[in-house]
Amino acid sequence: MSPKIESHLQEERVFSPDPEFSAQARISSLAQYKKLYRQSIQQPDVFWSKEASELAWRKPWSQVLDWKAPFAKWFVGAKLNVAENCVDRHARSHRRNKAAIIFEGEPGDQRVITYAQLEREVNRFANVLEKQGVKAKDRVLIYMPMIPEAAIAMLACARIGAVHSVVFGGFSADSIVDRLEDSGASLIVTADGGWRRGKIVPLKENVDAALEKYSHVRKVIVFRRCGQPVSMTPDRDLWWHEEVEQVKSSHKAKAFDSEHPLFILYTSGSTGKPKGILHTSGGYLTGTYTTFKYIFDIREEDVYWCTADVGWITGHSYIVYGPLANGATQVMYEGAPNHPDFGRFWKIIEQHGVSIFYTAPTAIRAFIKAGDHYPANHDLSSLRLLGSVGEPINPEAWMWYHKHIGGKRCPIVDTWWQTETGAIMLTPLPGCTPTKPGTVTLPFFGVDAAIFDENGKECAPNEGGKLVIRQPWPSMARSIYGDKARYQKTYWSDYKGIYTAGDGARRDQDGNFWIVGRIDDVLNVSGHRLGTAEVESSLVAHPAVAEAAVVGRPDDLKGQAVVCFVTLKESHQPSDDLLQALRQHVGKSIGAIAKPDDLYFAPALPKTRSGKIMRRLLKELVTHGKITGNVTTLDDVNVIANLAACMKSTT
Ligand code: PRX
Repeated sequence: MSPKIESHLQEERVFSPDPEFSAQARISSLAQYKKLYRQSIQQPDVFWSKEASELAWRKPWSQVLDWKAPFAKWFVGAKLNVAENCVDRHARSHRRNKAAIIFEGEPGDQRVITYAQLEREVNRFANVLEKQGVKAKDRVLIYMPMIPEAAIAMLACARIGAVHSVVFGGFSADSIVDRLEDSGASLIVTADGGWRRGKIVPLKENVDAALEKYSHVRKVIVFRRCGQPVSMTPDRDLWWHEEVEQVKSSHKAKAFDSEHPLFILYTSGSTGKPKGILHTSGGYLTGTYTTFKYIFDIREEDVYWCTADVGWITGHSYIVYGPLANGATQVMYEGAPNHPDFGRFWKIIEQHGVSIFYTAPTAIRAFIKAGDHYPANHDLSSLRLLGSVGEPINPEAWMWYHKHIGGKRCPIVDTWWQTETGAIMLTPLPGCTPTKPGTVTLPFFGVDAAIFDENGKECAPNEGGKLVIRQPWPSMARSIYGDKARYQKTYWSDYKGIYTAGDGARRDQDGNFWIVGRIDDVLNVSGHRLGTAEVESSLVAHPAVAEAAVVGRPDDLKGQAVVCFVTLKESHQPSDDLLQALRQHVGKSIGAIAKPDDLYFAPALPKTRSGKIMRRLLKELVTHGKITGNVTTLDDVNVIANLAACMKSTT
């Protein structure tokens, strides 16, 4: 049995919700949360049917859950149309002329789409898809920039029961080929291009290159976003604007079974081919609707903004399905956070009066690196709530977010979840949960989370282990597309009938969860197992550091030596003194065991396109001196050469 993951970093700063915020919140006291949480775990059927009944169903369910681990069916026998819930329901209510999407393109162009307009656009595109022969359960690949048409295409698929598979617009032609082959999609929705840092991302060109290698796509529908010339293959390629002109803006939506497939979203496995995570309709919609409502405590007058891309699960659940099912108004932004400079996000918040802002630690650290003056130049007083997702947020990054963006008044919801969980699982509720920087706090309603040791025994408080979920939940993945065996093996084979997330975590004496990093990344130093998050957070707490990645390198004496890669704030320069100071700093804040053996100053860290640090590559680099593994998910390949150079110059 391997020893437990240790925890050395203590966080004492506690932030309780502002009484004014609590007074108007849906869940306004910890006692209220605890009571409802207990009920939701003891009687999940009661909790989830109450929530689900706030949505529009065409046929009621005969049973809430049919659970044959690891395969779940939620709202058995019920029928609904997901798009109708996200669009028509509001377009036929007092929200008819309410803004659904406030769009800002990277060049500065703006559009506001009301729910009534969204309904017409979705209907039109649903008619276009049907005209092109798309039927229920057919797979449609969507490869779009961050423009409203991406959401419209997704909703149009949902409306006709087709299964969308969104591929992030930053992925290459080869990634498209892999996803086409796995999903068997026969129609692609794309655009001529999208704007990113002032340049056009050649989406159509990438699709053309992909289709040279994969010949089963019948039609490609192309939205004109940038206007540059693109080649159009006769009989295969169609212009979006020409097609929507030829169809009606009304469309009769059919009802689909609650377990009808809604989408496939590919997530990179640590090795091997990407996994097509399959989500279905009724349970997924109930999960995203309910979490969005309580966690962002959404109000009619809120302007919500999630900076994720629709190509990730965050974009699916908290740009498209969750917010729209709630009838929210949201900002959608096409481009880069630093175009034309690092003030862009803050300018958007000021201009559109954003009240809820949801972003990722990687973005926060990039802003910290760039300097405090960017947010300081803008009026951010419209904000009332902040969110974080995607990676552990280092406590000092949390403090910066709290102070410089939240003006010390906004609660921060640090939300833990995964592509596979579909919806947020661990999170504060903004009106009731006292939080400490770095903890994702408590489980959401109906989420039976725990920390297990290798033998499947629940760990004692503050003992590190594997994060598991013991009961099924409505938005859980149903399978890996076409590979039930892989689904079972990847997530359900560590402990019988229990979901393993692949993350290391601990739970403190108050029940708060602390994510310490991916299990695969855990360091083993002289028999002590250390999560990457704590060592990295210790480094980020030093005033010179913006970002850090920590990996193990084989060491004869210690098993593994601690190797750190550090990115400095713009205002600091690498030096030997700083190197020694950082080693001492980690030794002091965590203990001698974690003191870096090697420390390199890196201009940038290798990241996935969704902004997660790729420790796997760093580990390879420090172990073998080069990287031979798969780098297709790497955001910027130049980073590797720079890392090799920085390793030479710092040693
Ligand atoms: O390791 C956890 C980390 O991101 C993983 C899930 O990644 P993905 O499927 O791409 O979904 C990202 C958006 C939900 C998790 O296994 N992660 C996500 N949120 C957090 C996090 N780690 C720590 N704190 C979080 N809030």
